[in-house]
Amino acid sequence: MLILLATALIASAKAARPHNPILPGFHPDPSCIFVPQWNDTFFCASSSFNAFPGIPIHASQDLQNWRLIGNALSRPEQLPTLTDAVGGTSGLWAPAIRYHHGEFFILTTLVFDKRPINDTTRWDNLIFRTRNPYVADAWSDPVHFSFVGYDTSPFWHKDGTWTVYVQGAHPWQVSPHIDQIQLNLETGEVTEQVPIWNGTGGLAPEGPHVHLKDGYYYLIIAEGGTGLNHMETAARSKKITGPFAPAPQNPLLTNANTSSYFQTVGHADVFPDSHGNWWGVALSTRSGPEYIAYPMGRETVLINMTWETGEWPVFQNVSGIIDGPTLPLRPDIKGAGRLITASDNIVFEPKSTLPLHFAHWRIPDAAAYTISPPGHVNTLRLRPSLLNLTGFDANSAPTPQTFIGRRQVHSEFVYSVNMEYAPQTPDEEAGVSVFLTQNHHIDFEILCLGASSAACANSTVLRIRTTSTTASAIRPDTIIPLAHPHKTRLEIRADNLTHYTFSYAQDGVGAARMTVAGYGLSADVSWGFTGTILGVYATGNGQAALTPAYVSRWKYQGQRQVTVDEN
Ligand SMILES: *[C@@H]1O[C@H](CO)[C@@H](O)[C@H](O)[C@H]1NC(C)=O
Ligand SMILES: *[C@@H]1O[C@H](CO)[C@@H](O)[C@H](O)[C@H]1NC(C)=O
Ligand SMILES: *[C@@H]1O[C@H](CO)[C@@H](O)[C@H](O)[C@H]1NC(C)=O
Ligand SMILES: *[C@@H]1O[C@H](CO)[C@@H](O)[C@H](O)[C@H]1NC(C)=O
Ligand SMILES: *[C@@H]1O[C@H](CO)[C@@H](O)[C@H](O)[C@H]1NC(C)=O
Ligand SMILES: *[C@@H]1O[C@H](CO)[C@@H](O)[C@H](O)[C@H]1NC(C)=O
Ligand SMILES: *[C@@H]1O[C@H](CO)[C@@H](O)[C@H](O)[C@H]1NC(C)=O
Ligand SMILES: *[C@@H]1O[C@H](CO)[C@@H](O)[C@H](O)[C@H]1NC(C)=O
Ligand SMILES: *[C@@H]1O[C@H](CO)[C@@H](O)[C@H](O)[C@H]1NC(C)=O
Repeated sequence: MLILLATALIASAKAARPHNPILPGFHPDPSCIFVPQWNDTFFCASSSFNAFPGIPIHASQDLQNWRLIGNALSRPEQLPTLTDAVGGTSGLWAPAIRYHHGEFFILTTLVFDKRPINDTTRWDNLIFRTRNPYVADAWSDPVHFSFVGYDTSPFWHKDGTWTVYVQGAHPWQVSPHIDQIQLNLETGEVTEQVPIWNGTGGLAPEGPHVHLKDGYYYLIIAEGGTGLNHMETAARSKKITGPFAPAPQNPLLTNANTSSYFQTVGHADVFPDSHGNWWGVALSTRSGPEYIAYPMGRETVLINMTWETGEWPVFQNVSGIIDGPTLPLRPDIKGAGRLITASDNIVFEPKSTLPLHFAHWRIPDAAAYTISPPGHVNTLRLRPSLLNLTGFDANSAPTPQTFIGRRQVHSEFVYSVNMEYAPQTPDEEAGVSVFLTQNHHIDFEILCLGASSAACANSTVLRIRTTSTTASAIRPDTIIPLAHPHKTRLEIRADNLTHYTFSYAQDGVGAARMTVAGYGLSADVSWGFTGTILGVYATGNGQAALTPAYVSRWKYQGQRQVTVDEN
């Protein structure tokens, strides 16, 4: 396999064609729509698991400039039970976004990993809605509905009135197939789950969406599991309730058993544009078939399609280049957030708010984050939480963790902050983290290794510590004495596809930046359903801690996007 390392940095506004991934970084399980009524705009939603705010919504008018415009879950009161989602792959899975009669809808599932597989309380299925996704806190409180399973997706069937049929995945561990229900969007009332398709025999039939075209109801689903065997298959029927006949050429889309850098392609959704072209989106992992180093996890790719009248849809194979019709560039897409690959240069000036693309892990304690507090203008003050980043898996009380970060969206990047922090007790620490889930993170932290508080002034250190459920990924701690722990610049960078480098410098002391270690990503962070979040945290490691950390000069700069592959 020859991987050409494309230096296409931030998707240049002048580039003729969009490159994959269109939503780089932790943006799995995409669902997208085209809404002519909203100024010919494409809207995409993606899974966020335990991140809060949750379910980011991106908008584009040319399929290549994508702006974050909001999050379906933006207020803790919408979903306080996100706090109880204690598993590493718990949280909000696989939104389906749809537009119907002037309103946007998202169906999604809050999954509690640690409850019985076939228990309705494990799968809390939700309906969010809004008439204007651009306004702050746009989305409603959810209506909950009962469905044993996940990946629920609505289809409005015109039968005199509009009946909402919902397709969803019945848990693969019990009896894998696609189920259908009818749903009252106002009340959450449902009919009994009826099996409509078993798929073609692949593991975990899931991610179903229904589209009506040329008199056929097309049921397009994912199979094979979300790893290397992931694929997209389809069946169709003249009736919404089936029976569904599979496409003879299934799977319609997969990169399994290829040498492409883009693997795990599946969990697709399809939509038209204003010129009558059809487009697909799917998740994909930039890992190559080796499937070892993929810190950004499952990302969103765009796929050119051909869908002739009465025929099955044909998808282009996924790679870094997207062939197909080019839409006129409209980079000035409106919205409160940034273009997805934009840099951060955040100074936390007085009266500013946290940027829309910042995320916590589960529901935060708002009081733990203060911008420009008295005496510390242009900083973000972090109040330490009882729990550290690992906290939950020790079955600690579900209290918030003080952590705030942003997604890694480039193969190579530099992320840095100034941290003004001098721990006063041996339990406290604050630092930066390469965070995948509570079970998988690399922390670069300032802490006191002294036996007592009195010793902290003399025994404050910088430490690099890995947390992983893979024993071979856990490295011995790296410890560097920190003579003047007043203000330390902490930097994380990826200069290649397999390692992170942690560096520091001390203001006022004149110490040169020093590279202290490179950690292979392979087993350290490449795991699970999520993607890397880079952020800052402060904790008392299970003890009440009082010493605040002041974060300033937050910078993130993409250096290189590895996107193109040729076989
Ligand atoms: C449902 O879960 C319970 C408890 O885990 C188990 O005993 C039972 O066999 C399961 N039922 C099915 C149909 O899988
Ligand atoms: C799915 O498979 C089960 C057996 O595992 C079978 O009983 C059922 O009829 C199949 N459903 C469909 C819709 O083909
Ligand atoms: C990939 O190849 C393996 C081994 O031949 C096969 O079992 C699997 O079904 C293939 N996957 C797909 C999606 O074709
Ligand atoms: C995708 O690649 C496969 C081989 O891996 C090939 O058989 C198929 O024709 C390709 N599809 C398209 C639409 O080019
Ligand atoms: C993709 O786009 C090109 C150019 O518009 C078109 O000719 C081709 O048939 C499309 N479909 C696929 C599956 O590649
Ligand atoms: C529609 O989109 C275009 C191109 O981005 C923009 O110039 C125009 O202001 C938009 N109109 C409205 C009503 O938002
Ligand atoms: C810290 O180190 C200095 C110089 O080595 C020493 O004089 C002082 O007693 C130490 N203080 C504590 C609390 O250990
Ligand atoms: C990536 O960077 C690390 C740390 O600098 C280095 O040890 C490793 O050899 C590099 N890998 C490649 C393939 O260049
Ligand atoms: C997190 O805190 C717990 C105590 O609550 C402690 O046992 C554990 O070692 C800490 N983990 C890390 C990675 O510091």
